[in-house]
Amino acid sequence: MADKKHFNRYLVTSALPYANGPLHIGQIAGAYITADIYTRYLKSKGEDVLFVCGSDEHGAAITLQAKKDKTTPEEIVDKYHGLIKSTFEDFGIDFDIYHRTSSELHHQTAADFFTVLNDKGEFEQKTIQQYYDEENDQFLADRYIIGTCPNCNFDKAYGDQCEKCGSYFSLKELIDPKSTISGNAPILKETTHWFLPMGKYEDWLKEWIIEGHKHDWKVNVYGQCKSWIEGGLEPRAMTRDLSWGVKVPLKDAEGKVLYVWLDAPIGYISATKQWAADNNKNWEDYWKKEDTKLVHFIGKDNIVFHCIIFPILLKAHGEFIQPENVPANEFLNIEGEKISTSRNWAVWLHEYLEDFPNKQDELRYVLCSIAPETKDSEFTWKDYQARCNNELVAILGNFVNRTLVLTHKYYDGKVPEIANPGHEAVRKSIEATPAKVAESIENYRFREALGNSLDLARIGNQFLAETEPWKLIKTDEEAVKEILNIALQICANLTVVMEPFLPFTCVRLRNMLNLDKLKWENGGSLENLKAGHQIKEPELLFEKVEDEAIEEQILKLNN
Ligand code: MF3
Ligand code: ZN
Repeated sequence: MADKKHFNRYLVTSALPYANGPLHIGQIAGAYITADIYTRYLKSKGEDVLFVCGSDEHGAAITLQAKKDKTTPEEIVDKYHGLIKSTFEDFGIDFDIYHRTSSELHHQTAADFFTVLNDKGEFEQKTIQQYYDEENDQFLADRYIIGTCPNCNFDKAYGDQCEKCGSYFSLKELIDPKSTISGNAPILKETTHWFLPMGKYEDWLKEWIIEGHKHDWKVNVYGQCKSWIEGGLEPRAMTRDLSWGVKVPLKDAEGKVLYVWLDAPIGYISATKQWAADNNKNWEDYWKKEDTKLVHFIGKDNIVFHCIIFPILLKAHGEFIQPENVPANEFLNIEGEKISTSRNWAVWLHEYLEDFPNKQDELRYVLCSIAPETKDSEFTWKDYQARCNNELVAILGNFVNRTLVLTHKYYDGKVPEIANPGHEAVRKSIEATPAKVAESIENYRFREALGNSLDLARIGNQFLAETEPWKLIKTDEEAVKEILNIALQICANLTVVMEPFLPFTCVRLRNMLNLDKLKWENGGSLENLKAGHQIKEPELLFEKVEDEAIEEQILKLNN
């Protein structure tokens, strides 16, 4: 299933989060940790990789939050852009740039994009009837309208989309519509908008996705695209009657802004432009050259926008490449229930770090182990505890600690020399590890990749358990030298194959080993640590998670 074509550079994007609240674990499990693993791996291979993201600062998600907090959209986005950006940094999500759609550069880029399409005649201008809130003098689109879903009867569906059952519908199909501003039933009023006639692109989408990506796109993504395309694509309005957003760059468009789903993905482009300007690079290499591999990491609620609408826009524009893959994740639930920010049923990342300082890797580890890759998955605090204690502490931490302690005990912390190399089987499995991890990562199977890389620590533990150097030391000193040399090489290799998943831990492990950062190609070597090399005093990589800590979190969730 790997994308077999050869590429000379990579452009990796993670969905731009709305700057209307802090980040929770469901978000980073879906679109950020996996993307970070993917790009860290590619960078370690020495590839030319650009990893971009930024805050999505327009749309009703922002203006409604401002209204709720009795403040302005500007204040909302400034506050949360800062918080989100630093949370990503805290968790080691290593974007090359974290940009924002309120920037001047983005407004210009999005407006220019619209102008190109408009000049090419890609839009149809149509006058339609739109819901309108008389009390507030405002047209109501998207999240400004709430009503009963025509598909599942959920009574808090948005104007065009139900978050409960995931279906999309036209505004008029929504049952019993209400304005989210006043709560009143809206009236219908005429307004003019620019529509993207998506039907025109059906044949191209069939060829590109239904035929072209049948085998390399994830089943969940492919299936959603197929049913959208085969269901027929209606024209979709690309403008809105709102004051917050990118102004429609036309004379007769007073009071209109670009639809947030036109403007936001263009944020990937403006982020690239800003990065290129800051780093003396050419942004067009990443967006316009066929030998660039573009990969979008998103959650499943964003599939249609990244696989259908944005690609149509890129195609209509004419100069851009298309995504090679869109490995969307499903959703993460917590303790048996869907994450709900309004009910505060969430684990907030900045709060997690207050309660578990310096335990970013523990959360990265758990969230990758349970990433909702093929279906919704579940986070529970008991499982968090079990994975930390039984895997990170008992397997990885324990192996490293035993190896380093014995090296200090027998050899004053110097890597011992090997006289007659043996242990063929262990050597072979060490050498084979990076390729296994790589294969899983390249196929977007991050859970499997993590398992394959932890296997290296398992191999190490098993090796020590079988050879028992602490007993052998009394009878065969030469044999112990070889055993510990191999165990130390495994530690060195763990800093390579574990780095995409556990970057903070790998920095600490490299420090203990007194070792510089290695490249991916060295991750299967048995010669990364030379005989006589001095290592430092070991410290524990992980601490046991106690019951009280977990109980506190469960209480917190329920309050
Ligand atoms: N802000 C959107 C969300 O949180 C995602 C935007 S992704 C982008 O669902 F491509 F449009 F930027
Ligand atoms: Zn529904």
